[in-house]
Amino acid sequence: MTTPPPGQARPASSCPMLYGPDFAARPDVTYDQLRDAGPVGWAEISPGVHALVVTDYRAALTLLNDNATYSKDARRWQALRDGQIPPRSPVRALMEWRPSALYADDHEHARLRWAMDDCTARISSHRLREITRRCALSLINKVAGCGAADLMADYADTLPLLIFAELLGCPAEIAARMVSACQAIIAADHRAAQGSADFAMLLAELIQIKRAQPGQDFTTWMLNHPAALTDEEILNQLYCWTGAGLIPTAAWIGWALLRLLRDETFAGNLASGALTVRHALEEVLWLKSPIANMAVHFAREDTHLHGRRIPRGVPVMISLAGANTDPNLPKDLGYDNRSNLAFSGGSHRCPAMGEATTIAQTGIETAFDRLWDMELASPDEKVINRQGPFHQCPDRIPVHFRPKSVDGTSLATSTRR
Ligand code: HEM
Repeated sequence: MTTPPPGQARPASSCPMLYGPDFAARPDVTYDQLRDAGPVGWAEISPGVHALVVTDYRAALTLLNDNATYSKDARRWQALRDGQIPPRSPVRALMEWRPSALYADDHEHARLRWAMDDCTARISSHRLREITRRCALSLINKVAGCGAADLMADYADTLPLLIFAELLGCPAEIAARMVSACQAIIAADHRAAQGSADFAMLLAELIQIKRAQPGQDFTTWMLNHPAALTDEEILNQLYCWTGAGLIPTAAWIGWALLRLLRDETFAGNLASGALTVRHALEEVLWLKSPIANMAVHFAREDTHLHGRRIPRGVPVMISLAGANTDPNLPKDLGYDNRSNLAFSGGSHRCPAMGEATTIAQTGIETAFDRLWDMELASPDEKVINRQGPFHQCPDRIPVHFRPKSVDGTSLATSTRR
């Protein structure tokens, strides 16, 4: 593989690929190849689609805190404007402009974040823990009697979805449709476009329902917020809030479950383990950033970032996974200092870090609390990521545990070998 020379204004014919089975199996190798090009390097993020990717922690911080030089407005993407991005490219769904906070700058961004931040702050952590535990138990009860499960497909993938449906105030019928629409989006295959259209349609219905019958939920709070967003703006912020939250929360839960299941001292015992759930969650943010590569920015004019040329109109993506594992970071930094970039940084930093933490921690504790003697089914199996450039998520986590009836009585003495 040839690496484009540092500072080159266009991608070379061949550059590191942030997609495909090799990247899914060994992303660290690709990040090392990107680092060979300096703090910023060209990558192919999907067939025929290129972006500059920042893997240097300090350069990432500089960019994320420089709104005067960089914009999040994807309408600046020159290759898309020139018709050079394949119409069916899987990266379009997340990178193309939508009228939501994720792609907004300056005053417009501040206005949309004002509404989202205020409404997010109204979610009581006590209630969120209760909802999480109830949704977690409903999923656990489906597998408890089997003694075996895939913690991704049977648990982590669906748990945030059930919680979001409740936080948004979805009636049962809309909640069921939301689960199947979002599962199609998460699958990121041929069903994704239809899933996305279905999801937008049911959010429009939900807004009408909440106008007629307000409740104590995120949708109603957005409708009544003094920022006075239009229905279309609310729909797009709900889409962004849910869309931005689902997959990383599932991935964060998945990686932390895996970390704990692999830890000898934890061994399924929350009380005596040396590794705590909270510590495992912090460690994952550094080592397996759930959003691996995103925070796409566009230079407003041709510029330089830490000595590298950044042409305007080119997507500049932050490798949050690459920056968090930057070999230039102090070796003794540890994991508990909150300076990782897993939630991004600057004005677009994730607005729901506390809520995501409550969901992840409660979801993990409930799983270990209810699935006794849980162990990995194949402890030596190499973990493969799901494919795609944006998220870092284990494909599957097969486990076995002591089978239990729904009322909690053990159906077998133990599955431990
Ligand atoms: C309750 C769950 C979550 C919700 C509701 C949520 C919501 C959001 C929203 C609305 C944004 C857009 C903010 C803006 O552009 O101003 C955002 C950005 C972001 N979130 Fe979250 N999020 C959640 C969980 C997570 C988790 C678990 C992670 C990773 C550990 C994460 C990482 C990020 C990152 C990296 C961004 C910046 C994305 C970009 O600029 O492209 N989020 N989140």
